[in-house]
Amino acid sequence: MAKSLDDLIAEGVSGRRVLVRSDLNVPLDGSTVTDDGRVRASLPVLTKLAKAGARVIVMAHLGRPKGTVDPKYSIKPAADKLAELADVPVVVATDVVGEDARAKADALEDGQILVLENVRYDPRETSKDDAERAGFARELAALTGENGAYVNDAFGAVHRKHASVFDIAHELPSYLGDLVKTEVEVLSKVISDPERPFVVVMGGSKVSDKLAVIDNLIGKANSLLIGGGMVFTFLAAQGHAVGSSLLEKDQIDTVKGYLDRAEAAGTEIVLPVDVVYAASFSEDAQHEVRPVSDIEGGAIGDSGLGLDIGPESATIFAEKIAAAKTVFWNGPVGVFEMAPFANGTKAVAEALATSDAMSVIGGGDSASAVRNLGYRDDQFGHISTGGGASLEFIEGKQLPGLVALGA
Ligand code: 3PG
Repeated sequence: MAKSLDDLIAEGVSGRRVLVRSDLNVPLDGSTVTDDGRVRASLPVLTKLAKAGARVIVMAHLGRPKGTVDPKYSIKPAADKLAELADVPVVVATDVVGEDARAKADALEDGQILVLENVRYDPRETSKDDAERAGFARELAALTGENGAYVNDAFGAVHRKHASVFDIAHELPSYLGDLVKTEVEVLSKVISDPERPFVVVMGGSKVSDKLAVIDNLIGKANSLLIGGGMVFTFLAAQGHAVGSSLLEKDQIDTVKGYLDRAEAAGTEIVLPVDVVYAASFSEDAQHEVRPVSDIEGGAIGDSGLGLDIGPESATIFAEKIAAAKTVFWNGPVGVFEMAPFANGTKAVAEALATSDAMSVIGGGDSASAVRNLGYRDDQFGHISTGGGASLEFIEGKQLPGLVALGA
């Protein structure tokens, strides 16, 4: 049984340096944070520790700098956002385990927070070599000096076998953060004991990323509504022509197998009946609504791309969601960043926001989509901070960050 944050606080943290792995991997436009959801979600644990007198050292990544110091991936904008939102002092180091981080960790006072630079600036963080990662974890742990502790509160990264997520738990007494605890509780309920009908909405571009989760949901979900770019592999599996839409030809047979298995297992797979078909991948492209049985039959012909589910499909999806008691949504159903192709995703978000089902939004992209479309977090049951992590959890995989803590 993993120890909790409350266990750590009960043991006493005043004067101790506590390393916390947070997920501050926020989307940026230059150095502007465009969705601060993960920063807000990380705040409660950090401030709870600081207010209990801990000297908090935050480890986090931003993007995938691949072990090099690339200013484009600096943690600074996310850390500045944290400083802006926190009601305790926050300082930022200019390196990860270097001179600046060590000096600032030593100088920390009770109730202060130090954010280290992007942990992925160090190639050992993501190394496949156990010894390299362990060496980095030891250097991170050393920042805590005597009597340190480690808290994993980065749900979005628990599926990564990285030094700050996995190996560090072997270096310090380790505890499960409240955010990870809540995520695990909610997602466990969704997958193992959902109130029915249990409806899953799957979007996103690549079918190959979602195969394992679709596989695990067959027989568990009552309905699986498929949108996004991966829809075209499903439509192709049913024999439809899809123009130049995103298509993973090598997955067509697997998808055919899923369609057959789902039918036998009583899971209804709901595919769009119409799509918004565009002449090119751009906001101002010529576009038209086409039935899936005749996508190439209009003015655009066979060179267009399907970029959203059509209005009739959106209505069907909304009706299925309205009748559900539990809904899990992962991945936008269209290219919501471009206004002409945002309507399907809007319809799904609206149906979820007005439903009284237990609704869980999993995935960084779907979470950003609902916020960017103007919805508030409290209009949904739970917005997971995990993208890949929530999917792998739903797939039923063992996640290294949880395994390391015995959770
Ligand atoms: C995420 O964005 O899902 C998490 O922060 C993990 O990031 P990663 O996919 O780069 O490991």
